[in-house]
Amino acid sequence: MNKILFHLKTFGCQMNVYDSSRIVELLSGCGMEATEDECNADIVILNTCYIREKASAKIFSELGRIKKLYLNAKKNVPVFAIIGCVAKAEGDNIFKRAPYVSIVLSSQKYHLLPELLKKALEEKNTILNEQEDGEKKKKTKLSHLINTELSGLEKFDCLPTVKTSDSVAFVQVQEGCDKFCTYCVVPNTRGREVSRNEQSILDEVENLQNLGAVEINLLGQNVDCYDSLDKDGNKSNLAKLIKKIAKFENVKRIRYTTSYPSEFFDEMIELHKTEPKLMPLVYLPIQSGSNEVLHKMNRRYTREQYLDLIKKLKSANPDIQISSDFIVGFPNETEEDFEQTLDIVKQVKFIQCYAFKYSPRPNTVAAKMDGQIDLKIKSDRLKRLQTELRKHQDAFNKSCVGKVMNVLFTDVSKTDSEYILGKNEYLQPVIVKAGAELIGTIKNVKIESASYANLKGEIV
Ligand code: SAH
Ligand code: SF4
Ligand code: F3S
Repeated sequence: MNKILFHLKTFGCQMNVYDSSRIVELLSGCGMEATEDECNADIVILNTCYIREKASAKIFSELGRIKKLYLNAKKNVPVFAIIGCVAKAEGDNIFKRAPYVSIVLSSQKYHLLPELLKKALEEKNTILNEQEDGEKKKKTKLSHLINTELSGLEKFDCLPTVKTSDSVAFVQVQEGCDKFCTYCVVPNTRGREVSRNEQSILDEVENLQNLGAVEINLLGQNVDCYDSLDKDGNKSNLAKLIKKIAKFENVKRIRYTTSYPSEFFDEMIELHKTEPKLMPLVYLPIQSGSNEVLHKMNRRYTREQYLDLIKKLKSANPDIQISSDFIVGFPNETEEDFEQTLDIVKQVKFIQCYAFKYSPRPNTVAAKMDGQIDLKIKSDRLKRLQTELRKHQDAFNKSCVGKVMNVLFTDVSKTDSEYILGKNEYLQPVIVKAGAELIGTIKNVKIESASYANLKGEIV
């Protein structure tokens, strides 16, 4: 019998990317096979993001587009499953807008997929047989299978052990958020902060290093709030966890994301001084440089506290660079507030950032605030911020020329197979002329030139 083919498409953050990688392994272990071909699958799964309006609207247009592909090709429409943050936020509404969807699951329930997909596939076959028979009697109706509970991290007890790994591997250590920034849907879509058991993480890391992982990225919505017990019942935290991961011989690099500024603790600052495997790039979303706006956002720090943290980090380890996220056009943001944001960019000289126009989201406090900002002003501020950010990113890239940097190679260049690509300590893409046998290894590279997109160099 032919294998059942599933096409899985992922939207949103690294958390979803991680979840999707686990889903591929989960379903592959149940006799299914992943396909890149979106028009030739028995099952189409969309792992979705709800963070901004555009992101969630995209899901419904994708659904419609993919369904049409099958109808135009006169093929049977696949079983559709919507999982992740839109699934949690929209729930039943998804069936109202797209009745041909069979399954809706929150990100904490995706381990139920094999069982529900089996049910949906069987039902689909019954419906197809009935259509062929032209049977008039009782017709089977497509069931709508839904579970959008947020139940913590029980999914990890139900997942098979990871079986393959790239040289860069991601490991989820924490999920959910208790911060309730007034603009953000994540506390609703991912639930409260929960931490994964320490031993389960260490087992996964050991397995990943045996499968060839060299770099471990620890993931969490507020990764510095990681709070669990070790195998002896003692309290663990992110710093203690990283120290244990650093003991794995084949793990050469460790990163963690995302940090919340006022949760960043001294033990982590100290670790950036003492642990060479910990990469010197700290991803520390600030969102705004104005205390007024930060307060309205319910971010629990001031610009002064943020700057002080950066000073501490850089004095612990002068190699440290900072990346960040920004939101422009938050309700009531004045030109002066916005200039405070530009000012903090000039002071910190972030090396890599994401900037977004504020997007009002359902069931958030900020969406109901007076003083919503005109789209034109938001667009204008975004452009100005991006110009300022780019200046500092460019300057940092240029400052790398002549330096010897540490690069983990991951791919052969798509445009010229004589070149390979990798990332340095600061996640900048680096290109060198070398053979594919170096993929998965870390080499010292002397940087010879820099553009906005990448650095070029030579192995030394
Ligand atoms: N937990 C992380 C990131 C969460 S979401 C943190 O607290 O920083 C990723 C980014 O999306 C956020 O950092 C923020 O910049 C952006 N974001 C979240 N909600 C948004 C909204 N309603 N409009 C625009 N950007 C938003
Ligand atoms: Fe959203 Fe704020 Fe939580 Fe980040 S800290 S996930 S922005 S509520
Ligand atoms: Fe999007 Fe959910 Fe991540 S809303 S950003 S996929 S946590």
